[in-house]
Amino acid sequence: MHGREPVPAASLRENVLSLQVMLCTIALPLMFVSAFMTEARHTQASLRRLSANLINAQEQERTRIGRELHDDVNQKLAMLSIGLQQLPENPSDIHSRLEELRRELEDISSDVQALSHELHSSKLEYLGVVKGIQSWCKEFAERQRIEIDFRSEVTSLLPFEVGVSLLRVLQEAVHNAVKHSGVKHVAVQISQHSGEIRLTINDPGKGFDIEAATQGKGLGLITMRERVRLVHGTFAIRSRPLGGTTIDVRVPLSEDGSPHAAA
Ligand SMILES: Nc1ncnc2c1ncn2[C@@H]1O[C@H](COP(=O)(O)OP(=O)(O)O)[C@@H](O)[C@H]1O
Ligand SMILES: [Mg+2]
Repeated sequence: MHGREPVPAASLRENVLSLQVMLCTIALPLMFVSAFMTEARHTQASLRRLSANLINAQEQERTRIGRELHDDVNQKLAMLSIGLQQLPENPSDIHSRLEELRRELEDISSDVQALSHELHSSKLEYLGVVKGIQSWCKEFAERQRIEIDFRSEVTSLLPFEVGVSLLRVLQEAVHNAVKHSGVKHVAVQISQHSGEIRLTINDPGKGFDIEAATQGKGLGLITMRERVRLVHGTFAIRSRPLGGTTIDVRVPLSEDGSPHAAA
């Protein structure tokens, strides 16, 4: 009869060892896969947060336009209508009253025009990027009764796509300066350096704590950053409480002046 030989102790140790090696070989890739999946889940979550923020920003912008149309344009039209209903009986007074109402109507017309210019970037198309931005600054400063010191050292034609991004960042930064800085003076500068276009918007106002503001409910800072990222640029804010605020945007241009392709 051939009984089985008991397994020698050395071979048992070898078996255990090779089992351990095998488990390690399996565990390592599993750990990598798990780390990769966690990372992918984080990326997905931040993409979801970003698109929710962008949708919110769009809604906020619509609310602002709706409010401006309702509170400003609509109120003025209602006042105009009342003015027309209550025209004086006396013919000699009618003439001067009609002249007043005509001026009010002109005011309303320029408000609607300014609002439409803010929404639609047509000026960038027919004036070019730099002149379009300059023209927006001029109109906005007159309308808000603030001073915008605009300087540009750019002579070449800039791509429309870059221009629209710069205009939207500028609009938000200047709106922020008017709304939050407490001063009525803003400096805007556009310049071009070795293959990149640079836009800075500065106000000498009360400044803010960037960390705290980024955690807040506002979407302006997030939207500006995102707009610049889409044209592969960099976005920086320098601000200190009581120390003024500077928004600094740099967008790379390729040699033919077009925006850089995705990295
Ligand atoms: N130029 C500025 N001067 C002072 N505070 C500012 C300025 N720009 C932004 N802030 C601060 O950053 C916050 C976030 O700005 P933003 O994201 O544009 O949101 P919102 O303008 O809707 O409050 C503002 O509420 C304000 O406290
Ligand atoms: Mg804002």
